[in-house]
Amino acid sequence: MTSTQMAQKSEQLRDNALQDSIAILDFGSQYSQLIARRIRETNTYSELFPYHITAQELKRLNPKGIILSGGPNSVYDQHAPKADPEIWKLGIPMLGVCYGMQLMAAELGGTVEQSTVREYGRATLTIVHHGSLFAGLESTMESWMSHGDSVSKLPDGFSTIGRTMDCPQAAIADEERRFYGVQFHPEVVHSRGGQAIITNFVKNICGASGSWTMDKFIDEAIADVRAKAGDKRVLLALSGGVDSSTLAFLLHKAIGDNLVCMFIDQGFMRKNEPEWLVETFERDFKIHVHFIKARDRFLDKLKGVIDPEDKRKAIGAEFIRVFEEESNKLGPFDYLAQGTLYPDVIESSGTNIDPKTGERVAVKIKSHHNVGGLPKDLQFKLIEPFAKLFKDEVRRVAAELDVPEGIRVRHPFPGPGLAIRVLGEVTKERLKILREADWIIREEIKSHGLYRQVWQAFGVLLPTKSTGVMGDQRTYQNQIVIRAITSEDGMTADWARLPYDLLETISRRIVNEVAGINRVVYDVTTKPPATIEWE
Ligand code: XMP
Repeated sequence: MTSTQMAQKSEQLRDNALQDSIAILDFGSQYSQLIARRIRETNTYSELFPYHITAQELKRLNPKGIILSGGPNSVYDQHAPKADPEIWKLGIPMLGVCYGMQLMAAELGGTVEQSTVREYGRATLTIVHHGSLFAGLESTMESWMSHGDSVSKLPDGFSTIGRTMDCPQAAIADEERRFYGVQFHPEVVHSRGGQAIITNFVKNICGASGSWTMDKFIDEAIADVRAKAGDKRVLLALSGGVDSSTLAFLLHKAIGDNLVCMFIDQGFMRKNEPEWLVETFERDFKIHVHFIKARDRFLDKLKGVIDPEDKRKAIGAEFIRVFEEESNKLGPFDYLAQGTLYPDVIESSGTNIDPKTGERVAVKIKSHHNVGGLPKDLQFKLIEPFAKLFKDEVRRVAAELDVPEGIRVRHPFPGPGLAIRVLGEVTKERLKILREADWIIREEIKSHGLYRQVWQAFGVLLPTKSTGVMGDQRTYQNQIVIRAITSEDGMTADWARLPYDLLETISRRIVNEVAGINRVVYDVTTKPPATIEWE
């Protein structure tokens, strides 16, 4: 195939994927991404679009269904975000969620009013008519509410299909036009039966085939990369994390030795990790990795640096310097591959409107604060095959590609690595202490079979000392914090309820085996208000 033919094939594949997909119009709800994830659980591709996408563009994309997300506004705000009025005439099934339902009702001739009782949190939904949206559900279910307004008069053609104690129109339907609205959030885990509602909408009402699987994604991504890169070499900076490692496997499958992997050893990885990573890639998978030894350079830059932001900046700046030097040596390259994920790229501007001024307010999505982040002016074209995937989907791609379990199930690890877990000044000696203690923490959690149940578990070396007594000697030494958390996405987190006997073993082993530590403490703070990392 010529590269033009390959490019056409890749366009074709993408269009096919969109034609069997659900489009989400994002009105700024914190749950919009969650809707996409829930839809994808039905093996249906789903993508978020800004709420102002035109009907014409939607028609071109031809999704099987449209979901109007929730949002922070009231439909009667002077500058309330509205969808293109033509979308109601497209003949595509629609589901409005919360604000999306109110907008649908208001735009189609109904009335929305401020509720006398605002509903936040759990509420029991009573289904008054199952129809196609609630098919197969019990007659009552727990739902998750979060609204101040509600629909008071239905538009023509609609009827009520569900209510809660405080919301008489908690779910509405116009079966003929296949328009549905729910005041609650079926995408939120707390809404039991929520997944069933989403599946009913996606599969039964919209008729999506549910054939979007990870092996299909991989085929498309490979075709896409081949079409883009042709016979050019592609540079990938490995971090050791699941995203860049899985990307290396995918790219190697797509372009073989035209993939050039580089690993910059900053000296902040966990015990044995850099060696293990390179060995696994080279020996087991025959993917060559250029191993860049840069430990001393990074440590030099951290001399006397204590402030966490200064640390991150110093590491980030040095990373770019090393990256530029080394890529020049290995290059030139036309393409740089990055493991960017969907949540990093979702267009957030334009989804939130300030009701008073009508100005668009950029929604703050988690800043990626990745030291691997590269400046915009590098002369590369980007290849980002995971830019439409969520983290759990990358893990599924990894499983399909037989990425070793040691990489696939590994906990997230911050770009600046142990440098932001050695609080205060980072030195070779302090890194060594932390590395040993951290090793014990993770080994013990693994041997208790709990590694997969926690989102992250690691040690933090405090910049303070405390007294102790070992044998007959008084000691004055360092303290290690054990941080172990559970989380769905890293945005919020709870501290893991690790068993006492496990904590006991970790503590005993650390003080016995790691010279320089005489006290171990457990961090019992949630995020928010704390962050997962300490710096
Ligand atoms: P915080 O500490 O903000 O961390 O609660 C949330 C998640 O992000 C990870 N993290 C980073 N990841 N580069 C990364 O790639 C970074 O600089 C960075 N800082 C924090 C953190 O480990 C947690 O999973």
